[in-house]
Amino acid sequence: MHNCHSAYRVVTHIASRLVFLCVSVPLWFKGISVKRLLNAALVLAFVVVSLGAYVRLSDAGLGCPDWPGCYGHLVGIPDADHEHAAAAAAFPGKPVEAAKAWKEMIHRYAAGSLGLLILAIAALAWRREQRQQHSPALPTLLLGLVMFQALLGMWTVTLLLKPLVVTAHLLGGMSTLALLLWLRLGLEYPKPAISALSASPTLRLLGIVALAAVALQIGLGGWVSSNYAALACPDFPACRDGQWQPVDVPSAIHLAHRGGALLVALVVGAFAVALLRHRAPALLLAAALTLQLSLGIANVLLQLPLLLAVAHNSGAALLLTAVVFANARCRRPAWSISRAMPVGQGRTPAEAGPGIALG
Ligand code: HEM
Repeated sequence: MHNCHSAYRVVTHIASRLVFLCVSVPLWFKGISVKRLLNAALVLAFVVVSLGAYVRLSDAGLGCPDWPGCYGHLVGIPDADHEHAAAAAAFPGKPVEAAKAWKEMIHRYAAGSLGLLILAIAALAWRREQRQQHSPALPTLLLGLVMFQALLGMWTVTLLLKPLVVTAHLLGGMSTLALLLWLRLGLEYPKPAISALSASPTLRLLGIVALAAVALQIGLGGWVSSNYAALACPDFPACRDGQWQPVDVPSAIHLAHRGGALLVALVVGAFAVALLRHRAPALLLAAALTLQLSLGIANVLLQLPLLLAVAHNSGAALLLTAVVFANARCRRPAWSISRAMPVGQGRTPAEAGPGIALG
């Protein structure tokens, strides 16, 4: 027990130092660019979304009954005997479960670091030299989103994992990731994208429909997970004992998610085929879609092993990023100020790309 306590103390110490370094070092670094911050934020957002799934799926969502601290501790969790006694007095009937509390706090530290990175991105986006090239509107919107996401994180705990809040929190995390990627891809302008001819209005419309279908499907997935309906249909492709119809609410929710998967397969598949001449986005879409469908089916057939369930969530994030990437390839990511510029003209000769049909 004593060893366990000192191990926790060491972990607490290291975790607090890590958070401190993650936040302060990049800001001290003179001349830090939005691009670098976006790269770091993108990686961290993917980690936070996956960690969130791990916390949810290992039933650690209520590992800390309060927010933002854990049993009142902003750094670490109750450790010493007197801290346990204080926690028991403040939260009767909710004994400290160290493993669950740590999972929850690590997710909060990672999400907090991401929030600070996004704050730094939004602050840099308002600098004059940056504003001349890119509108600060999207980074500011992203900052608003991440603040709302923190509120949803709090409500997830205080409203005891209400399905609507849990699903909204999942969608908020995925939207943060998607917006970060959109901003990052916007910085690549004016690298050549798909030519004006092939980026037809139909292709661009298909891209938007694919994005909407994936977003809807992620929402449905969160609805399955937060309603504990994952095992309501243990067979595949039928729900149970050769039956295709739902027999209760959980099986109806589960089957709606399978129906959504069919829709996603059709729309994203069609988008990939339409992009076939442009290898990278088409292959990425096909690979992410195949992986995600396989993970979903494997989760049903193997009865939801934790790692596969987390991988299914990360797979959804990958599929979303593939669809955002493909969309960015057929239109210019919209935060570029130079949108008003005629096709094929840049601010400098080097920037005069081949031109794309403007979205
Ligand atoms: C095609 C695209 C698909 C997407 C984008 C998608 C996305 C998601 C997401 C985001 C979740 C929530 C995960 C979480 O709470 O961490 C989820 C849950 C789930 N999905 Fe999918 N899914 C897809 C396809 C499928 C398919 C084909 C199946 C099975 C036939 C499936 C079965 C499940 C199950 C059983 C859960 C609940 C897991 C749990 O309780 O955590 N999914 N899905």
